[in-house]
Amino acid sequence: MSGNWSPRREGAGPGLGRDGYRELMARLPTGVTVATTIDQGGRPHGMTASAVASASLDPPLVLVCVDREADFHAAVLGARGFALSVLASDQERLSRRFADDRPDRFDGVAFWPGPGGLPLLDGAAAHVICDSRGAHDAGDHTVFFGLVTAGTTFDRLPLVHYRGGYTTIRGA
Ligand SMILES: Cc1cc2nc3c(=O)[nH]c(=O)nc-3n(C[C@H](O)[C@H](O)[C@H](O)COP(=O)(O)O)c2cc1C
Repeated sequence: MSGNWSPRREGAGPGLGRDGYRELMARLPTGVTVATTIDQGGRPHGMTASAVASASLDPPLVLVCVDREADFHAAVLGARGFALSVLASDQERLSRRFADDRPDRFDGVAFWPGPGGLPLLDGAAAHVICDSRGAHDAGDHTVFFGLVTAGTTFDRLPLVHYRGGYTTIRGA
């Protein structure tokens, strides 16, 4: 099915309407990460995030956009750093788990503490470890920047989110 939205069809402002905007951006295939951090009590927090990008090469900065309403928002706001576990093609279950509303997301999940105690998920395609480098308001989200201090890649294909579902890519 194809769609066409314009300010004339949908009214003022951004013009697409919430659903139209969602459907539009769902055409952008993204990788899927679990963003993690620890709070001051050392408790792990994690949330599925695909609004993630490389923001700068020198210095190496990444960004992750977090909904202000998400519990993870409060956790990462005061945190010294965060990590991104880039999910592998067989980790759809983890993507769903860390997006579901449940208090026990880490229960039974294999992870280990990386630098600074940041949780790193086992079986990921890559781990990206960051020191917090500020945050900027972006509508109903906040953009958190991180200076990448370490990272590891693994020989696994990535999980890809596209049009509300999951797929992967062919090996490059
Ligand atoms: C594939 C996928 C990608 C997502 N990407 C983001 C994202 O980039 N930023 C965000 O704030 N929420 C994103 N979410 C939604 C959060 O994972 C979800 O709202 C989660 O329950 C928030 O958890 P929390 O309130 O415990 O922090 C995504 C969900 C899925 C399934």
